[in-house]
Amino acid sequence: MGRFDGKVALVTGAASGIGAATLALLRQEGASVVGADLAGAGDDIVRTDVTDADSVAQAVAATVERHGRLDVAVNCAGIFRFGRVEDLTLDEWHRHLAVNLTGPFLVSQAAIPHLVETKGSIVSVASIAGVKGQAYTSAYCASKGGLVLFTKSIALELAPRGVRVNCVCPGGVDTPLIVGAFASMPADADARLMTRMDSVLPGLVAPGEVAEAIAYLASDAARMVTGTTLLLDGGTQS
Ligand code: NAI
Repeated sequence: MGRFDGKVALVTGAASGIGAATLALLRQEGASVVGADLAGAGDDIVRTDVTDADSVAQAVAATVERHGRLDVAVNCAGIFRFGRVEDLTLDEWHRHLAVNLTGPFLVSQAAIPHLVETKGSIVSVASIAGVKGQAYTSAYCASKGGLVLFTKSIALELAPRGVRVNCVCPGGVDTPLIVGAFASMPADADARLMTRMDSVLPGLVAPGEVAEAIAYLASDAARMVTGTTLLLDGGTQS
């Protein structure tokens, strides 16, 4: 018996990293899972742009048409580039907010009517950068901090209708995103500032470990958990 037998999940950002690990874990635990990603391919992952309301509505509709219900929506699609605040272009600022914050808003809005029917849940991947300031990361911090409070707000709003809403806040996770992000670090970045994000535990978080936290929050074991931010930050905040 799997924790998600008979359940249906939609996972954005499922073509890579944490999203791919989450899709695999939920499926392994019995769920029917549809992935939604800009890099969509085949039946498994519907090509979706989370910044586009029509595209998101189509992904949610395709999931429900295919599997008859929706129990879990996971907001995993995201982007991250470092950059000094005075060097950020308006396009870069807008893009971070569009993918990392407007995306979860659009997915939640499209998913809620179905989640109300199943007493389902939403889990979003925010970041430690959503609960703590990080230098050279203003657009990303703003988007993830917004996502943390968006989560808390709609958790309150949806609780009377039986829908739980939570987020996970990882520190550095070993995925293509972090490799790309470090390539964008300003060459003369102040190393002292960057140590504020150092994990106390050695190493990076594995994508599968974040997937486990997402699965827990989406599972019946978290029946009384809503509006929470589950940190996987290696002790950064301790
Ligand atoms: P990744 O780069 O491996 O995967 C992100 C996926 O999102 C990609 O498949 C990409 O195609 C998709 N995507 C990007 N823009 C999209 C759009 N507009 N519409 C649909 N899909 C889109 O990254 P990773 O690390 O798996 O990131 C997943 C989430 O975890 C992101 O929200 C990220 O901000 C968050 N996170 C990652 C951390 C890390 O250190 N890797 C740390 C904390 C949070």
